[in-house]
Amino acid sequence: MDDGDWPEESVMLSRLLAERYSCRGFRPDPVPRTVIERMLEIAQMSASWCNSQPWQVIVTEGEGTERFRTKLFARAQADTAAQGFPAMEPDFPFPEAYRGIYKERQREVGWQLYESVGVQYGDRVASGKQALENFRLFGAPHALIVTSERDLGAYGAIDSGLYVGSILLAAQSLGLGMIPQAALATYAPLMREHFGIPANRMIVLGASFGFADDTHPANGFRSRRASIADAVRWVDA
Ligand SMILES: Cc1cc2nc3c(=O)[nH]c(=O)nc-3n(C[C@H](O)[C@H](O)[C@H](O)COP(=O)(O)O)c2cc1C
Repeated sequence: MDDGDWPEESVMLSRLLAERYSCRGFRPDPVPRTVIERMLEIAQMSASWCNSQPWQVIVTEGEGTERFRTKLFARAQADTAAQGFPAMEPDFPFPEAYRGIYKERQREVGWQLYESVGVQYGDRVASGKQALENFRLFGAPHALIVTSERDLGAYGAIDSGLYVGSILLAAQSLGLGMIPQAALATYAPLMREHFGIPANRMIVLGASFGFADDTHPANGFRSRRASIADAVRWVDA
């Protein structure tokens, strides 16, 4: 995208969005609490219907991350060994199917990831092992879990999604790597029990974050985007 003579803020926002990527390899060093707070302060300004601000977030650090990682990874490993895949118990229903262009995009980004980490096409053992990395939080020193109020239904989830979008940009602006993970939401009952999340809170999404390990092969590719012509229909009459 050409930055041209656009206002500085627009150029900065465009760069943050263009340079952000889903980080799947982290350095172990923790992010200072003040930096995490700054990220959360920025994201807290997100819009929501009726200004309901339905999001609440659990942030793990230190032993909090390690205890969560250990429990989650052990369970995901055991489920994969027993049934070939991790649990599928999200609070919000997962997509029914990816068809057509959505299937193509899902495949493309999957291949990009597997190619970057050296998984051969069709190697289910190796791809399963890479998928399990989700539950090791990709080695990140922090996880966050975003919940929304049950009564607010889909719109609470939309508001919380906007909040997650803001967190992703805030993290990028602070030099942090992050990855949103629906995979974590598949273990909603485990997280509910582990973090004491009450029944009125729906788990929208988890994410792992920290400082990116720039040498990690999983961080070595960038996903593509369709042009706006594929997403926009103008109506002028
Ligand atoms: C709601 C949501 C859930 C996601 N869940 C996962 C996940 O469970 N595991 C994973 O590796 N990536 C996950 N991702 C990352 C996407 O694969 C990624 O955003 C997409 O391929 C675009 O690439 P980019 O983030 O690097 O620009 C998720 C992204 C979003 C927005």
